[in-house]
Order: sequence, then C-alpha cells, then structure tokens
Amino acid sequence: VSIAADVPAIAGGAPVRRAFLPFSRVDLGAEEDSAVREVLRSGWLTTGPVTARFESAFASFVGVRAALGVASCTAGLHLLLRAFGVVPGDEVVTSPVTFPATVNAILHAGATPVLADVLPGRLTLDPRAVKAALGPRTRAIVAVHLAGWPCEMDALRSVARGAGVSLLEDAAHAIGATYRGRAAGALADGASFSFYATKNITTGEGGMITTDREDLLPRLRAERLHGVDLDASQRDGAAYVHWESVTLGWKYNLSDIASAMGLAQLAKLPGFLARRRALDARYRARLAELDAVEPLTGPAGAESAAHLFPLLLRPGALRVSRDEVLRALLAENVGVGVHFRALPLHRHVAASSPTRVGDVPVAVASSERLLSLPLYPSLAESDQDDVIEALGRIVRFYRS
Ligand SMILES: Cc1ncc(COP(=O)(O)O)c(C=O)c1O
Repeated sequence: VSIAADVPAIAGGAPVRRAFLPFSRVDLGAEEDSAVREVLRSGWLTTGPVTARFESAFASFVGVRAALGVASCTAGLHLLLRAFGVVPGDEVVTSPVTFPATVNAILHAGATPVLADVLPGRLTLDPRAVKAALGPRTRAIVAVHLAGWPCEMDALRSVARGAGVSLLEDAAHAIGATYRGRAAGALADGASFSFYATKNITTGEGGMITTDREDLLPRLRAERLHGVDLDASQRDGAAYVHWESVTLGWKYNLSDIASAMGLAQLAKLPGFLARRRALDARYRARLAELDAVEPLTGPAGAESAAHLFPLLLRPGALRVSRDEVLRALLAENVGVGVHFRALPLHRHVAASSPTRVGDVPVAVASSERLLSLPLYPSLAESDQDDVIEALGRIVRFYRS
C-alpha cells in the first residue's frame, strides 16, 4: 500500500468505497411478505390470534412464563414500571448510556430518573454505582443491555434484592443475548424488547414484555388496550358481551399485521444471530491490531446479541476528536452511529433528572470517545473489509 493510497478521503484521498454503506439495513424476505398478506386477507388486522401466537413463541424463545406484545419497547417499559408499583414521586435508577426512551418511560410513569455510572469498557450499569444511587424513594432499577451485551445481572439482582426494589431489563438491544445460561428477558422481574426497524428482529414498530409474573398479566393487558377488560378479539363472538372500562389505559397494543412479521422474523433469528456474531468476531479479530480502538465488551459468562458494534477511541491515541473520526468515516462512504451520547448531555434529560454530568464521569467521558460501525446480517464480508480499511487508514493518519 503506497502512502498516497492510505490518505483518508477527508484529507484528499480517494474514498475506500464508491457506494455509501448504510449503517443499518432491514432483512425482510418472502416469508414476511406472505405472512403479512395472509393476515391482510384474513380480515382480522388488530391484536388477535397471530399476536397470541407471536407472544407464546417469544415467551418460549426467552424462557419465561408470559410475553405480551406492545406498540414499542418504550410502551412496554412504561407498563412494566406501573405494574411493578412505580408511582409519581418515586425514583427509578437507570443507565446514562441509553436511548432517551428509557428515561422517558420512567417520566411517563411519573417517577424521577436517577442515572448511575457505568462500567468502563462496557458502558452498562456499574452495580456499585447503582447501590450508591439508591435512596428512600427508589422503587425500581432499569438495567439497559447495551449493544447486545447483558448487564452484570447477578450483582444488580443482589443490589435490587437488598434494597427491596424491582429490577427490570431494557432489552431493546438484547434479542438473543444470554447471561450465565439464561436469555435476556428472563434475567429480572420483567423486561421489554423492541422490534423497531433497526433491531435484531423487526415488526416495523413494536415491542414485547416478558415476565414470569403471570399475576400481572390482567393489569398489563388492560393498560395496554384502553383500560378495558376485554380486547376486540374477545368481543367479536356470536354472543354480545359487555366490556367495561376498569382502569386508565393506553393504546399500546401490537397488531396481528405486525405480529405476523414478528413470527416470520423470529423463525430467522437463529440465522441472524449466527451471522451477526460471526461478523462481530471478525471485527474484533481484525481490529485487534489497531491499538487506538477498543470494542465494547460484556460480563463473563455472557453472549452478546451482537446488535451493534460500538468501540471506544483510546484516550490520547488520536490527535482528532470522535466527531472528526465520524466525519472521516462518512467521507469514506461508511455509515456510522453513536450509541449513545450520555443522557445528562441532552437538555431534556438534564432538565428532568437530578443527575448532573459530573455524577456519571465514566459515562460522559466514554460517550465522547464512542462510535458504532455497521453490523447487520446482510453486511457482506467485503463491505466489512471496507469498514475496517477505512477505520485503519483514518486511525493511522490521525495517530498522535
Ligand atoms: C436502549 C433502548 N431502549 C429503548 C428503545 C426504545 O425502543 P422503541 O422504539 O421500540 O420504543 C431504544 C430504541 O432504539 C433503545 O435503543
């Protein structure tokens, strides 16, 4: 490789790729197509028999007693927080390295989000910081499995038990992750998954609650659908049955159209996971020679769902900022992401949480060195080679 060929596009070289490589891409095929068409032709579009089938298939995949389809992961978290007794005035401890949805769900429940710092190199909740963040008004902890890596759940469970508070999982990134023999979604009192378009499986928009607490199902079901005691499929029989508004509810149900897609995607999940993990391992092997970058890791005994491929730029390794590296990758025609800029850096969270930037130094400092590379089942190895080459030439060019 000549010196000139190794000049990044942003500094005047030729881009590694001619065509832009998207950061994320959905993976849908004939199976989703025919499953959705079948629902369209059935005449029953909203929550009904297909959602029930998706729920039971998802519950068996995760290994829990119950699953409930919802409109989004955020909706699921909101309902779970309420079902586990979070009321206005309570505090809920969660991670500062997550999507604002986690904190919004806590706010929707009327509680105050308190952010605890994260473990260096993993960016998932530090159990000791969680313990220190507990107070007399703490009612729950929401563990966020970042990028597919489960949190340090054994330690978090003992912190939660010791304090007598509920432990919930934000499993938006963790479809297929495992921790010490159990699947994400079966690691706490309740969990919420996301089927948003970029997730490991998608229904376009959608989510799923998983829990072993079957006693909470009537409440979760009612609050998911207007607070009425019978859903439309239960009211559609030959005999008229009066339904009643029994509580405050939301419009958080998952349709049969979405669930048909979800079932087809769930059948493909083992293949998706194998491909994601192979690409993840390939990134790790190839990037090991670049000492300026450090991929995120997880706890011992865990297997990542390989949802995202975030890495940290080592402090002082480069003479430019993370944002300059992002721009340089884009100039090579490589899509990028940041998961996530620490929440106290966002004005809405700063205004609605007592946690200040200085309270979560690991999260804030790490999030300024963080970026994610493309990772999805349809990413070809040649595309991945382009990403690695692009990052390599940028890192070599900007080495301090
Ligand atoms: C960590 C995390 N939690 C929650 C959500 C919200 O998921 P949804 O869009 O299904 O509500 C997201 C969405 O991207 C997320 O990344």
